Amino acid sequence: MSSPLELLKSGALEPFLALAFASLLIPIWVAARFGAAAARLCLFLWPAITLGALLLLLYLSRVVLSSVGWPVASAIGIGAYAWMLVHLAGLTAPRLRGKFYAAAVLIPGTVLTTACLLGVPLGAGAWIAWGACVSGSGRGTCQASLALGLAPWFLAAGGLFSSVRPRKETVRIRPDAERPSRPQRLSFERRREVLPNRGEPGVLRVAQVTDPHLGGLWSVARLRSMLERIAAREPDLVLLTGDLLALEGMFSPGALAQALAPLRDRPGTCFAALGNHDLDALGEVRRALSANGIRLLVDQRWRVQTRVGPVEVIGIAQLRSRDFAQRPEHVRKVLAQTAAAAGAAIAYRICLLHDPSRFADIDPDAPGAPDLVLSGHVHGGQLGLVALGLPWTILTGTRWPDHGLWGLGRCRLYAHRGTGTFGFPLRIGVPGEESVLEIEVKATS
Ligand SMILES: [Fe+2]
Repeated sequence: MSSPLELLKSGALEPFLALAFASLLIPIWVAARFGAAAARLCLFLWPAITLGALLLLLYLSRVVLSSVGWPVASAIGIGAYAWMLVHLAGLTAPRLRGKFYAAAVLIPGTVLTTACLLGVPLGAGAWIAWGACVSGSGRGTCQASLALGLAPWFLAAGGLFSSVRPRKETVRIRPDAERPSRPQRLSFERRREVLPNRGEPGVLRVAQVTDPHLGGLWSVARLRSMLERIAAREPDLVLLTGDLLALEGMFSPGALAQALAPLRDRPGTCFAALGNHDLDALGEVRRALSANGIRLLVDQRWRVQTRVGPVEVIGIAQLRSRDFAQRPEHVRKVLAQTAAAAGAAIAYRICLLHDPSRFADIDPDAPGAPDLVLSGHVHGGQLGLVALGLPWTILTGTRWPDHGLWGLGRCRLYAHRGTGTFGFPLRIGVPGEESVLEIEVKATS
């Protein structure tokens, strides 16, 4: 066995390091095309990917596949690294590409990149445990090392499945007496099945769609068929809460309009609010919504007649990061204006608010406070134990309500796990969500 440090000293890693050094051209390329902010993100991610690759691919070649010999193992490692480079180079000229590209570059590149990012902590742990194993200190260290060294590959493969197969669910939201003074997770009923429209009196059926991030693993065909399934469940309202595009979708004019086409036959029942990524392709998003009869609400309200009576939908604008200090005041001001303009009684008030951390800015006792806020943005936490039936995610304990039902006073927030991904390539333990919310409506002001 040679540790990464020993291999470095021996010069055996020189081809790998030369490739890693050459890949530093990518941030320069990204800076020229997308600006300094994207290049900074790239400069942070690429060294992490390279470090993870070094730790994991060496572990595979020196420990797991040690019998194949260093030249072969080294060629496998360098080949895998080059494959990721091709995938990342493709992202610097983003556009939606065909099935062949997805099979040959996008999917393997995404899985490898995810495994390497996970490989920074897990690969380091594997090498430390391996050192203890070969020195004979500590029982179970050999098994622990192997588990840590292989875990990123299994997690990334499972993540691929979670990222393209959103769970079909039915969520029941009932009125309750809980009145928490700050945002707090509440229990609710979630069934992993598609329940038919039973036409229950007093029950509003809402399909929320959020963060599809058209692009990457989410092609036009995949998003379109998800929306066809949602439309077939006959919800009273379809409410989109932002982040409709990923990088590839932003640079493919007309693709989003095609993907949203299954909602075109539902006039007057589809509404949308913007997410942070929509601000980067506002014209494309506006055109796609308008082409499919989806009403975009930007600090606006709209009253719609439903089976449970008049329902008011409020869309709160996504602010740019330079205006973040104004966020609490902004939410309250929009809701106050809405209350002043409300007029006759409504049965239920729903607010579309992309970022769930802004739920805390709502005054639940103020006139115009919504009965239910629908959010996305955090993709359910994206890394967590939700797939195992446990609520923990990487965002647990932070200011972001990550998934499920939350309460603040009499207001409720439903944080949807979303559809696609952005930034971290895959969902690990947090599958996407394809649900219909059955909301038991209790008449309010
Ligand atoms: Fe998002």
